[in-house]
Amino acid sequence: MQSTSLTVNGRAVSVAADGDTPLLDVLRNHLGLIGTRFGCGAEQCGCCMVLIDGKPEKSCGKPLSTVAGKQVLTVEGLGTPERPHPLQQAFLDEQAGQCGYCLSGILISAKALLDDNPAPSRREIALALDDNICRCGSHPRILRAVERAAAQMRQGGSR
Ligand code: FES
Ligand code: FES
Repeated sequence: MQSTSLTVNGRAVSVAADGDTPLLDVLRNHLGLIGTRFGCGAEQCGCCMVLIDGKPEKSCGKPLSTVAGKQVLTVEGLGTPERPHPLQQAFLDEQAGQCGYCLSGILISAKALLDDNPAPSRREIALALDDNICRCGSHPRILRAVERAAAQMRQGGSR
């Protein structure tokens, strides 16, 4: 069995798995990072979104071999319960989730947006989240939460 080295949430890891294994399976089944969710498995819903070298990507369609040597960030790398990322805090403050299943992917897409654009318009936020489906219809609260986080990060809560 071949081994692939990559960095996940700042930690160097080596994974013994076939190179065709989807990154989503590696994260959940090999590394125990179950915050990244399986939804459709067909690159359609966005709930498996992670950052790969800073860019949002659907991990269900990413073979392990293509992320060798890359930096992967999952929702577990965003913040902790004691020290949440401003996006996580804003989602809590706005009660932005209903079932919550979509939220790890949405938080990752939102982080990618705010890393690039600290003051997005509502339309820019909606476009950045276009690949993320929320079956509960929580979109208005999700948009408000991203706006709240952006404002807070501009006031100095950024990281
Ligand atoms: S599980 Fe990857 S896009 Fe739906
Ligand atoms: S909060 Fe349920 S799918 Fe988005």
